[in-house]
Amino acid sequence: MSQKLTLSSGDKLPAVGLGVWKIAPDNVGAVVHSAIESGYRHLDCACDYGNEEGVGDGIQSAIENGICSREDLWITSKLWNTYHAPEHVRPALQKSLDDLGLEYLDLYLIHFPISLTYIPIEKRYPPGWIFNPDADNPKMEFASVPIQKTWQAMEELVDSGLVKNIGICNFTTGLMSDLLSYARIRPSVLQVELHPYLTQEKLVRYCQQEKIAVTGFSPLGALSYVPIGMAEKKESVLEEEVVVAIAERTSKTPAQVVLRWGVQRGTAIVPKSSNKERLKENLDIFDFELSDEEMQSISSLNQNRRFNDPGDFGPTAFNTFCPIYD
Ligand code: A2P
Repeated sequence: MSQKLTLSSGDKLPAVGLGVWKIAPDNVGAVVHSAIESGYRHLDCACDYGNEEGVGDGIQSAIENGICSREDLWITSKLWNTYHAPEHVRPALQKSLDDLGLEYLDLYLIHFPISLTYIPIEKRYPPGWIFNPDADNPKMEFASVPIQKTWQAMEELVDSGLVKNIGICNFTTGLMSDLLSYARIRPSVLQVELHPYLTQEKLVRYCQQEKIAVTGFSPLGALSYVPIGMAEKKESVLEEEVVVAIAERTSKTPAQVVLRWGVQRGTAIVPKSSNKERLKENLDIFDFELSDEEMQSISSLNQNRRFNDPGDFGPTAFNTFCPIYD
């Protein structure tokens, strides 16, 4: 069973969750059911993943089968970039709730500090990054919505009881410190890409100082990006000598060592797997510990290698340069 992180709200976030990005809509229900059966109690979802209805089916079947109750689960979803204008925040949340078959979310995150032109739900859902996919030169279209306005609408979701916690994804320290200057309800969680090739130590330290819990996505690094052509297999951190040696010492797999490093540094992680055995493997990381030296040697693998960067994939995939981390 997973350890938990106590958030500034007092709520407890299970340290290991199932990330459902890229799990096919027609398979995600079965994967979610199987994950909950294996002991997962934290699911990391998003409008943009295009599979929330399927996730909802998996949740419902697990609850109907008596494996858990709704209150045992921690469900996160994310506000997409086209819904940043305050009047679109609540309808966007409601669509996610309806698809997931839930009355409330445990955590709702702003997915990116990027505001795009609104696309009505009836017109296209999930709307994705491109404004008009049928255009000759399909592009992203930016909208002028200050994050402060979006945040105020997020706070109202907490007031109305529809979400228990709010937070942000893919924010830098500068953006967060600005947000904290006006936040009536502080962000409980920051979610960013974190793995041994991208340790983001200053960002994690800043969040610890501000009592914002950090969740790392793609905690296994390149593996998530090989199937979509955004990384090469040889970039896998699981092949690193130091990781393999620790795996041998602890009789764990290299993946378990890398995931353990993630939770032992105090962050939550949301690895994705569609495979029953690997689902179990990824949760089974609480019966061993890494020494300080081992933690340090894994952290030293850092190369500031970010696989998920709109500044890189924007021009290729969406004909739009959209850097946010530089
Ligand atoms: P699979 O679903 O076939 O298990 P992310 O970094 O986004 O969490 O993605 C994880 C990627 O790594 C997926 O491609 C997943 O594939 C694979 N994976 C997940 N768990 C393991 C594991 N324990 N060992 C090796 N590969 C894994």
